[in-house]
Amino acid sequence: MNIQGLLINGKYVMKERTYPLYAPYDGRLLAKISMADEEDVKEAISGAHEAFKSMKDMPAYKRAEILFNVSKIIRERSDQLATVIANEAGKPIKAARAEISRTIVTYEFAAEEAKRIYGETIPMDAAPGGENRIGMTWREPIGVVTAISPFNFPFNLVAHKLGPAFAAGNTVVLKPAEKTPLSAFLIAEIFQQAGLPEGALQVITGSGKELSDALITDERVKKVTFTGSAAVGKIIKQKAGLRKVTLELGSNSGLIVEPDIPMDKIIPRCVEGAFAFAGQVCISLQRIYVHESIYQTFTEKFIEQAKQLKIGDPLDDKTDISTMIDEAEAKRIDTWVKAAVDQGAKIGLGGKREGSIFTPTVLLDVKQDMAVSCEETFAPVVSIVPYQHLDEAIEMVNDSVYGLNVALYTQNINNALNASRKLESGGVIINDIPTFRLDHMPYGGVKESGYGREGIKYAVEEMTELKFVTIKTEF
Ligand code: SIN
Repeated sequence: MNIQGLLINGKYVMKERTYPLYAPYDGRLLAKISMADEEDVKEAISGAHEAFKSMKDMPAYKRAEILFNVSKIIRERSDQLATVIANEAGKPIKAARAEISRTIVTYEFAAEEAKRIYGETIPMDAAPGGENRIGMTWREPIGVVTAISPFNFPFNLVAHKLGPAFAAGNTVVLKPAEKTPLSAFLIAEIFQQAGLPEGALQVITGSGKELSDALITDERVKKVTFTGSAAVGKIIKQKAGLRKVTLELGSNSGLIVEPDIPMDKIIPRCVEGAFAFAGQVCISLQRIYVHESIYQTFTEKFIEQAKQLKIGDPLDDKTDISTMIDEAEAKRIDTWVKAAVDQGAKIGLGGKREGSIFTPTVLLDVKQDMAVSCEETFAPVVSIVPYQHLDEAIEMVNDSVYGLNVALYTQNINNALNASRKLESGGVIINDIPTFRLDHMPYGGVKESGYGREGIKYAVEEMTELKFVTIKTEF
């Protein structure tokens, strides 16, 4: 049995304390994973701190070269990496391959971004006293970054942390999700192969409050970047003190469907947004508000299309929907759906649990205050709700503690622009689903969906310090 060690200063450190990693679909034991303690974290941070001394002086073209190499190696090993995602996350192989394709692009963007970290000149003489002075800014790397990543995109969401961190000349201590550590160790191996200096990337696995506290509060850590739940994000923000943080948290993404759209063209996309990776995506389509004049037809067609989804083994090329990350998650959403039904919701499709699989579920007659609507379901469950006026739909979408991506289908440009202004959210997607993301887009939320932005250029800004320098040209 493969025992996976921690990666500290370029060496694998095997621990006596391990946890078993099972494939969520069939319960196969994949590996035993070493569990770090506080001392390991300190050592990893020391190593990253030491490595920063050389990383911060590495020229931009060299940082770009390493990131391009990473991208190239991932391309060569695509099939292997996609299979690892399918095994440890239970992500259908088609979706796992798509994630790897995105990861290649994300590292390419990071490589390009390394070469365009610009500053600006400041017109000092715009204020009295500024005569004969030159002012300028540039960006400097911040130092050691703690990156805490989720299970749902074990390669690409790690890339959204490592890519900008190394593009900017930082070093990283990565703590991947407990359920998907193998992807993280593989990417670390690829970085080594690509020429990243030893110690610039450390990988720590394990769990517990002491471990997280050590990763966040060590004074040598200058930045914490986290993707995960709002509950954990709030704790991290409190503990991080004056450090910079980026928090990419959850949502209950809403979509408004106006009547002036070609319905048959958008239905497959809506089904994909609601059920891709069993809804375990922060911008999964959870609430669909459909104009009452097309509500009945939309709902029937949506259910008809969702019935076509093939449920099965993540390693099977034909599978659209597979397991959730574990049985506890499937049981949780089962309870939420049953509670919604007790409160008056109707099941239009699905609502069944088979072990760790929850079948694609469409809920009707859902009220805004039901957990399936106002909480983040992170499961293959979508509600379809009718509305009369666009403003009413906007209010219902905004009636949420979250605001990551929301969306609107309409061909009316005035409605599109007015709605974009009124919708309270980090991103507004017109004529597509909220589950739309390209990896150079600014990505992040308002309200409880988070703090700060990812998308390589924006993440580089969050992982650098702005320095201002002025020169007096006459004494
Ligand atoms: C997320 O779940 O936050 C990431 C979604 C994506 O990158 O597509």
